[in-house]
Amino acid sequence: MPGGVNSPVRAMKQIGRKPIFISRAEGPFLWDVDGNRYVDWVSSWGPMILGHAEPLVIEAIRDAAGRGTSYGAPTEDEVDLAGEVAGRFASVEMVRMTSSGTEATMSALRLARAATGRTTIVKFAGAYHGHVDGLLAEAGSGLATAGIPASPGITEAQAADTVIVPWNDEEAVADAISRVNPAAVIAEPIPANMGVVPPDAGFLEHVRDATAEAGAVLILDEVISGFRVARGGAQELLGIDADLTVMGKVLGGGLPAAAYGGSRELMERVAPAGDVYQAGTLSGNPLAVAAGLATLRKLDGAAYVRLQGITETLANGLRAAAGDRAVQVSSVPGLVTVFFSAEPVRDFAAASACNTAAYGRFCRAMLERGVYPPASQFEAWFPSLAHDDDCIARTVDAAQAAFREALS
Ligand SMILES: Cc1ncc(COP(=O)(O)O)c(C=O)c1O
Repeated sequence: MPGGVNSPVRAMKQIGRKPIFISRAEGPFLWDVDGNRYVDWVSSWGPMILGHAEPLVIEAIRDAAGRGTSYGAPTEDEVDLAGEVAGRFASVEMVRMTSSGTEATMSALRLARAATGRTTIVKFAGAYHGHVDGLLAEAGSGLATAGIPASPGITEAQAADTVIVPWNDEEAVADAISRVNPAAVIAEPIPANMGVVPPDAGFLEHVRDATAEAGAVLILDEVISGFRVARGGAQELLGIDADLTVMGKVLGGGLPAAAYGGSRELMERVAPAGDVYQAGTLSGNPLAVAAGLATLRKLDGAAYVRLQGITETLANGLRAAAGDRAVQVSSVPGLVTVFFSAEPVRDFAAASACNTAAYGRFCRAMLERGVYPPASQFEAWFPSLAHDDDCIARTVDAAQAAFREALS
């Protein structure tokens, strides 16, 4: 396997060590193949919002598997899951499932281009929307981690169809829209792939108004924020409606599932209702749908209040542990990033300027103390409902020592 892994950020090269191979997980914990236990703050990069091996989810998967693992035909559970999604996102009247977030963003772009008859996509620096060819320029996540500005293998035409603007820069958005008349503006409403960098007050409203005025499609990529920062994702938390919403991670409850959705008018362009082709052998797979439904059914209003409390306790504990060092702890409900920066981080330029060497030392020191943070400055910590006070206390204790080692 290239780099020893099946997805780059698992490699841990960026923090100067070899990848950790996992043998099992339960609740808030991971165990590696050497028998070491870690408090896991990665949560499989988001899906495990209930913690690992949650009994209700496992039971739902077992039950579904007993009835066969894939039919290539629709099921009642898919209808229930679509209803659950539409019940949470005011802007989603119809939904189409895929197996990965990458497929979902790729399909949403195709639909936006078909609906507008335009080509160009506006994207924000530091945002990651999966490894879609045209969206890999100045992307966050594993590309930012490896310092790759764009990937070889992408045609000039694909690169030319994407225009990059800085996050939280209203003028740049307005200028790009008037210059290129885009098919769509795609944004993570709460970016978490350059670390967590929430929008400034009014910024997303500006993007919403500017896209509506220009007749461009606003695609909000809620693969991370959806079902996590609030019951109805960032759109509910921030009071903003997308034209198309992309979802994943929590939606599949730890199995491969993602989706895109929006108004009936837009979504009825998708085949076979309409002429925009998109398909998938394992889309809406019965095991993934069962895991997703079981997960979402546990995520009621009280669960989100609890997740917010867990996030705040963790973030405040990390802030206290950092003391007056050059560290910023950014957080929204369900997401945290520890930036090694003297100044608050508002965009990709500031995220990129962080002290990644110190972050690497911090991470290694945490791992040595049985705490597993994301092995990259440009990723989020993903609190789950399984993280109790003891997990947080151990993490904060470890962080006190790790900050000392990282920035002595
Ligand atoms: C915001 C966002 N969009 C899209 C994706 C791609 O999803 P997947 O890895 O399922 O292809 C990711 C993955 O991390 C993501 O964070």
